[in-house]
Amino acid sequence: MWACELIDAGYRVLGIDISEAMIELSRKKVPEADFRVGSLFEVEIPPCAAVTAISEVLNYLFDAENEDLSLGRLFQRVHDALVPGGVFVFDVIGPGQVPPGDKTRGFSVGEDWAVLSEREEDVERGTMERRIVSFRKAGEYYRRDDEVHRVRLYDPSGLSAELERAGFRVRTMRSYGGLPLSEGHAAFVARKPL
Ligand SMILES: C[S@@+](CC[C@H](N)C(=O)[O-])C[C@H]1O[C@@H](n2cnc3c(N)ncnc32)[C@H](O)[C@@H]1O
Repeated sequence: MWACELIDAGYRVLGIDISEAMIELSRKKVPEADFRVGSLFEVEIPPCAAVTAISEVLNYLFDAENEDLSLGRLFQRVHDALVPGGVFVFDVIGPGQVPPGDKTRGFSVGEDWAVLSEREEDVERGTMERRIVSFRKAGEYYRRDDEVHRVRLYDPSGLSAELERAGFRVRTMRSYGGLPLSEGHAAFVARKPL
């Protein structure tokens, strides 16, 4: 877990998530870090060396605050909070994952679980809907969960321009070190100049 790696490397960690369940899980896994329920669009970001939003965090639309098409205000807040030389690292999923008018289905299975998914893009709105049905063995039976995720799809070059407008120097990547990103994803390292 990312927070655990950061604590081991000697950082103080503040973790924010809009989901109470995610925060509860994180507190159990990494008690040394400070985790708070909140929206990244509203939370006060303390002065820091790095801000990270790993795994499509900025794409999700279940926070009404993220209905605004522009991430410019968030980029400016992060820039203001970072020390000179500090970095903002995040990844997003972009458009073009599903052919227009089509639905893409997928599945992953393990010994005692299965995840089924269906994705559909709305090209005009620049959004994608992901329906996810998961089964996990609980005793003799399987427990079923249904989720619908709505995400905004971001063109990487548009985001780079927006980051530069906020004062960052930007590098885009297709992997985190040796870990390649899934298809259609781009990662950003945005540095506040010294
Ligand atoms: C795919 S998960 C990644 C979680 C974590 N970064 C990881 O790598 O394990 C995306 C997370 O972003 C959170 N999220 C989405 N929109 C958010 C927002 N506006 N403010 C705070 N958290 C948000 C979701 O609740 C979800 O836990």
